[in-house]
Amino acid sequence: MGELRDGERAPAVAVIVAAAGSGERLGASLPKALVPLGGRPMVTLSLVTAASCDAVDLIVVAAPPSHVSAIRGSVEAAALHTPTEVVGGGASRQDSVRLALEVVPSDFGIVVCHDAARPFASRDLFERVIGAVDGPDGADGAVPVIRPPDTVKQLDGDAVGRTIPRESLGLAQTPQAFRAGRLREAHASAARDGIEATDDAMLLEVAGMAVVAVPGEAANVKITTQEDLERAERIAEGAP
Ligand code: C5P
Repeated sequence: MGELRDGERAPAVAVIVAAAGSGERLGASLPKALVPLGGRPMVTLSLVTAASCDAVDLIVVAAPPSHVSAIRGSVEAAALHTPTEVVGGGASRQDSVRLALEVVPSDFGIVVCHDAARPFASRDLFERVIGAVDGPDGADGAVPVIRPPDTVKQLDGDAVGRTIPRESLGLAQTPQAFRAGRLREAHASAARDGIEATDDAMLLEVAGMAVVAVPGEAANVKITTQEDLERAERIAEGAP
């Protein structure tokens, strides 16, 4: 956490782990968060990293409604020192985060949203995003980004429209950290206005809140396909 002045308390921090996806694109019989990676369910890697951050006081996992008890079993097996709750998720990622947010106590100051599908995010990265929203000068939200190394084309079908200056682009990752009140407001107005987003930062962006980019991590890959999973297995086993 940032430096504290006399009498100032560090804000309580909750981490929401979105783990309620079906993992259809992975073609597995289990939900993606429960697919084994390096001998443990994928979600366990994120739980262990989040729990290793001193600043984190509570973890809330959004589980597939059909697999709440299986995810609870993974949480117990991980023997985390950080209190961890499991709730049933919703039909979309956004619904899952909103449902998890409901069990975060109202006096928590910071909420971090992380996808179980990114099991290799480091503790450093969690601490970096938390640091960016902490303190009086902190932003409303912080997103890790990777600057694309490739030249990026805007396409219309197969036709190349134009080249987008890559200096202005960032590929967004999770964990993303937010001032809790701003995240709650952003989710409530999105639900009211029917806005659907693929990450939480977008909900703050459309509400005109201040979101900053922090450096992401190349190793923090998102596991979507069977091929991603095979590559992740090799990383989890420490293979070159
Ligand atoms: O499907 P995709 O990998 O893009 O989902 C991103 C993250 O959101 C995953 O960790 C997934 O478990 C989570 N998710 C969720 N609830 C849903 C759909 C996805 O928590 N209904």
